[in-house]
Amino acid sequence: MNKQEYQFKFEVYDSIDDLNKEDAWLLSEAREVTQHAYAPYSHFQVGAIARLDNGEIVAGSNQENASFPVGLCAERVLLAAAASLFPKVPITTIAISYHNDNGQSNHPISPCGICRQSLLEYENRVKHPIRLILGGMEGKVYIIERAGMLLPLSFTAEDLS
Ligand code: THU
Repeated sequence: MNKQEYQFKFEVYDSIDDLNKEDAWLLSEAREVTQHAYAPYSHFQVGAIARLDNGEIVAGSNQENASFPVGLCAERVLLAAAASLFPKVPITTIAISYHNDNGQSNHPISPCGICRQSLLEYENRVKHPIRLILGGMEGKVYIIERAGMLLPLSFTAEDLS
């Protein structure tokens, strides 16, 4: 038996003001995009916005449904839109923010498990890492160099072969 260790490093900034101009712009757009969420059940509006390798910008927001499991997270709405509008174009960075009608928005949120799986598959299919900028309406900001780092020991297409 030997013990394996999984480590990952990410950047922590005190606020959006400490980001470079491009990253700060993307996060401020993610904050704006929360307004397009349809979240009448959770009252938790998530906005995601991607910069693509070709310079295009694609947005996504969570879209809920009275049949709760039908709802989609902002991240997967964004990935589906990007893949449909600009197939095969790598996503370089995604900024994710949220507005919470029932609470604060003062700390970063991370993609849920299903979205981590989807982000990892997107990285693999276009062979390009997706950088994540995570932050609320205020407060600290995390930058993660590669979305797949959030999913160690992941299940991928290679396992099917
Ligand atoms: N949600 C997202 O859109 N992205 C996340 O990373 C976490 C959760 C959505 C799903 C649901 O509509 C609401 O936020 C509350 O869970």
